Formats: sequence, C-alpha cells, structure tokens
Amino acid sequence: MIDRVPTGIPGFDELCEGGLIKDRTYLLSGTSGTGKTNFAFQFLYSGITEYGENGIFVATEERPEQIRQNLSGFGWDLEALEDEGKLAIIDACSTKIGVPSQEQYVDVRPFDMRALLNQIIAIQDMSGAKRAVIDSSTSLGFHLQDPAKIRIELLKLSTTLEILGLTSFMTCETIDDTLYSRFGVENFVTEGTIMLYNRRYENVRVRSMEIFKMRGSDHSKGIHPYEITSSGIVIHPHEEVY
Ligand SMILES: Nc1ncnc2c1ncn2[C@@H]1O[C@H](COP(=O)(O)OP(=O)(O)O)[C@@H](O)[C@H]1O
Ligand SMILES: [Mg+2]
Repeated sequence: MIDRVPTGIPGFDELCEGGLIKDRTYLLSGTSGTGKTNFAFQFLYSGITEYGENGIFVATEERPEQIRQNLSGFGWDLEALEDEGKLAIIDACSTKIGVPSQEQYVDVRPFDMRALLNQIIAIQDMSGAKRAVIDSSTSLGFHLQDPAKIRIELLKLSTTLEILGLTSFMTCETIDDTLYSRFGVENFVTEGTIMLYNRRYENVRVRSMEIFKMRGSDHSKGIHPYEITSSGIVIHPHEEVY
C-alpha cells in the first residue's frame, strides 16, 4: 500500500490516484508568473487547514512579508498559522540580496545547504511538519553554479526532506515552457515533475498544468486547464487543453 498525501488543491488529487506519494519530493516547473508560488503554498495551506499537517516554506524569491501580503488576497491569514506554530517561513531572500530581516527564521549567508537543512530539521523538531516547499530550486542552483554541484546538492536536499518524512515541492523557474527545468538536472533528483503553463492563444492566455512524471504512480497524461481564483488555484481535471 502506497500512502498518499492529498494536496488539497481542487482537481489535482484525482489526476494522480488521490495525491502525491508520501515523503517524496516533486518538482513544480514553469516560467515566471505561471503560479508556482501560489500552487506550492496552497499545498502547505491546505495541509494545515484541511489535513492537520504542518508546513515549512523556504522563500528565496520573495520576502516573507510580500508572500503574506500576496496570499492574503486568497483570504489566507498566514501570520495566524505562524503564531500557532503550524507554519514556518524561512527568509532566504533578504540575506541573499543583503537587506535586513525581522523574520523569526532567516537563512545564513553565504548560502550553505547544510545550514539550510539544519534549520529545516530544527523547525520540524518543534512543529512536527509533514510538508515542505523550497521556492525555488533555481535560486539555490545559482548559488552553486556548476551543474555537477547543483545536481548533488539538490539531491542532498530532496533526499534529506524525504528521510525527514516531509512530502515536498521544489519550484523551478524555466525560461521557456518547452523545458522541464532550468539546469537540466532538477527533474532527475525529484520523484515527479508537475508543469505549469500560461500559454497565449490568439489574444488570451490560458493557464494549464500537466503531470509530466510521477514515479510509482499512475497519473493523467493530459494537459488540464486551471484558474487562479479569489480563493486560490482550481484545476479542471475533466477538461483538456490542446
Ligand atoms: N487573488 C488573485 N486572483 C487571481 N489571480 C491571482 C491572484 N493573486 C495572484 N494571481 C495571479 O498569480 C500570478 C502570480 O503567481 P505566482 O505563483 O507568484 O507565479 P510564479 O511563482 O510562477 O512566478 C499573478 O501574475 C496573477 O496573475
Ligand atoms: Mg514564484
């Protein structure tokens, strides 16, 4: 019996036998603005509010303050979840760009994978978190530079999350929606790849998603439309985009 972790994202779980496989790391790839941060955060938010599973979010792309503000647009009060110890956001953005941070959890500078993992381990010890998001693997990769190093360090990250009993998403910023990753290695160190698209058809853009790979699981092979609504992401699993 394979344990499944429902993402709680409307329409997603029925595309893959009820959800992600427990304690595995998945890549969530797409170009800028496709909805990766929203999607990944909704996995944590639903985990906490619907399934009683606490979460850890590593923010390298935006400061936690901006994330709280952006996601309040969906009616989500992240600060309340943080105050209750159910959600931890690690600020790995401020240090990267050299601005001060008032956050409770701040990543060290210069970037060090071991230090980041130690912080995740310490938070999980306190909160018993079951879900994690690394947003994004791309900016961690830029700290590491050479592809061989990126591959081994991201493998260390995904494997450690799995051993800790965390089901996780790593986001990946692509520069072209025919590519599955930025450095050509991220999809080899994760157990599955979910693609988000925001393609233009004449004068409208249509958001869609695809489960490109999911080891150990049957899954839809279609490309399904999705929307970002005032209460978050909604996938339409019975419709397909061609
Ligand atoms: N409350 C909202 N209602 C509808 N769409 C939203 C809302 N908030 C954000 N969005 C959409 O989400 C997009 C950003 O998604 P995001 O997850 O940050 O993308 P990525 O991380 O892939 O760059 C915005 O460009 C906007 O189109
Ligand atoms: Mg983002």
